[in-house]
Amino acid sequence: MGKILFVSHDGDTHETELVAGRSLMQHATGHGVPGIDGDCGGVCACGTCHVILESRWLDRVGASGPEEDQMLCMTPERQPTSRLACQITVSADMDGMTVRLPEFQM
Ligand code: FES
Repeated sequence: MGKILFVSHDGDTHETELVAGRSLMQHATGHGVPGIDGDCGGVCACGTCHVILESRWLDRVGASGPEEDQMLCMTPERQPTSRLACQITVSADMDGMTVRLPEFQM
C-alpha cells in the first residue's frame, strides 16, 4: 500500500493510506484530513477542496481544466501548482505524493 501525505499551512502532517479510484477530495475527507471541505460534493462548484501540489507531482497529475481553472481563479491563495482535489483521481502511482493545504478554503 502506498501513502499520500497532506501538510497543513502551519506544517501539521496527515499521512493517509493510498486507495486508488476515488477523488483526492473524497480520499482526504474519508481520512479525516482537516482543511479540505468539499462542500459541493465534488462537482467543481465550490472551491473548498483547494490543494497545492509540488511541481514534480503536478507534472504527473496534470494541470487544471478550464472549469476548474475558473474556480481556482477565485481562491485567494492560488499558487502555480494549485488544483481542486475533487478533480484529481487517486491512482497507485501517486504513492509518496505530498499535498499542501492552503490556510483558508473559499
Ligand atoms: S468539492 Fe467543490 S470544487 Fe471540489
